[in-house]
Amino acid sequence: MDPATSPSSPSPVAGPAITPTSPVNYDDESVKKFIIATLVWGIVGMLVGVWLALELAWWPANLGTPYLSFGRLRPLHTNAVIFAFTGNALFAGIYYSMQRLLKTRMWSDKLSAFHFWGWQAIIVSAAVTLPMGMTEGKEYAELIWPIDLAIAVVWLAFAANFFGTIAIRKVQHLYVAIWFYMSMVITITVLHVVNNLAMPATFTRSYPIYAGMTDALVQWWYGHNAVGFLLTTPILGLMYYFLPKAANKPVYSYRLSIIHFWALVFMYIWAGPHHLLYSALPDWAQTLGMVFSVALIAPSWGGMLNGLLTLRGAWDKLRTDPVLKFFVSGITFYGMSTFEGPMMSIRGVNALSHFTDWTIAHVHAGALGWVGMSIFGMLYYTVPRVWNRPLHSVSMATTHFWLASTGIVLYIVAMWSAGVTQGLMWRALDANGLLQYPNFIDTVTTLNPFYWIRLVGGSMYLVGTILCAWNVFRTATGPSLSSPAGHPAATPHLEA
Ligand code: HEM
Ligand code: HEM
Repeated sequence: MDPATSPSSPSPVAGPAITPTSPVNYDDESVKKFIIATLVWGIVGMLVGVWLALELAWWPANLGTPYLSFGRLRPLHTNAVIFAFTGNALFAGIYYSMQRLLKTRMWSDKLSAFHFWGWQAIIVSAAVTLPMGMTEGKEYAELIWPIDLAIAVVWLAFAANFFGTIAIRKVQHLYVAIWFYMSMVITITVLHVVNNLAMPATFTRSYPIYAGMTDALVQWWYGHNAVGFLLTTPILGLMYYFLPKAANKPVYSYRLSIIHFWALVFMYIWAGPHHLLYSALPDWAQTLGMVFSVALIAPSWGGMLNGLLTLRGAWDKLRTDPVLKFFVSGITFYGMSTFEGPMMSIRGVNALSHFTDWTIAHVHAGALGWVGMSIFGMLYYTVPRVWNRPLHSVSMATTHFWLASTGIVLYIVAMWSAGVTQGLMWRALDANGLLQYPNFIDTVTTLNPFYWIRLVGGSMYLVGTILCAWNVFRTATGPSLSSPAGHPAATPHLEA
């Protein structure tokens, strides 16, 4: 029985499964392309992150040119790691797993190709326009309106292919991973369209249709849910497919997976105002955001526990299997950042953390820990299978794991220390009740050593990613499993 689809709790299967009569010719070429794009853009995005870290530690690294200034490179980093690295990885994992879960090839090869090339064209246009200073100025939605339109078209093509594949599925039951993917496809469509509604003025400029506080609220409804439905729910979907597969165990509780899915998607959508605490947003709306954010601990930890408990009886495999190592580390960081986030949503805590490096620590515990480590787990699982070759080097993957883990710890511990120091210095008063550190530069110089530590941690993470790319390259070009002589497999990758 397929571990990913064999729940331990009562069967959720609504009707009889339709068994395919012939092996399915899966589209693994698209998966391969998305994997390569993930690694290429991952290295680019992280390199920009490391450069930004250097600029914050040593400002002359901006080389005096506006194209490399912090303000222009920062959105390049966030767009590259979120939409290019994470985006391509999600597509790779989704194309791989949904075909196998639904026992059918993707609905349309043409749409798959359009999706892949369209998405890469969008990334390239972002990489050109952002350093040139063309921006709409909304965080995570900086791209100018013609690129926004292109995103809508490519995303809808992906959505059509996604739902088309569901429609032609050979298995009646929709395993929970598909539900998590579905929540991403639907929600990102709505978020992208609503937040980017704007009146074009020229080809590169536009005015948002919202004004003032409404604009801020829509922006953070978007921003928070982009985190929720790009960096959280689809990664949970990957976890629900790849973790039971790698551990060869059924998911701990299928019932829990369904309950925490619905609770998560329902609560996430209300939590955006925690980005606007102490702003002009009405108090009741801030409180609403805070309450939903604190309540989010429950469904988030439901997912974390379900992931970790799936490994019951299989923990020994962690010693040798890189896939499990990365997933377990990712899930642990998920638990950590989804405890920290709700705490930061509490007004009193946010008064200290907001505007400080504490937020940066939180972001990267989630991004490098949960998102990044889970993506690497998915890559180490899929790469040998789609290329039909054994992983080139397990010890290189293990080195990657330790480099990344140490890098994350250095990064986030440095930023927590910097953030709390910064927050406390800003609010410190002297005996006369005056600000003890009235000049902004006071905190900047105090934090400098932490920024160097972050640079070391971030660089280690980047080196790990480069090792992963090298390992994938050597795997893809190494001897095939089905041809010991080293010749490529004669038949396409068929799997029932
Ligand atoms: C229960 C789950 C979570 C809650 C309630 C939560 C809450 C928060 C809060 C209160 C902030 C600070 C807002 C501010 O002071 O401006 C924040 C920032 C952020 N969080 Fe989370 N968080 C959660 C999970 C995550 C996860 C898993 C990730 C990433 C993968 C993540 C990514 C981010 C990002 C990117 C920001 C920075 C947004 C910005 O200001 O640009 N969060 N979160
Ligand atoms: C080598 C790895 C990385 C390094 C060195 C790095 C470094 C940085 C730096 C220096 C900043 C700017 C901080 C500031 O403005 O004070 C930043 C922001 C950010 N990074 Fe990274 N980063 C890395 C990887 C990632 C990854 C993989 C993701 C997501 C999947 C990510 C998501 C973000 C986000 C969302 C922000 C904006 C945070 C906010 O506005 O609060 N980063 N990163």
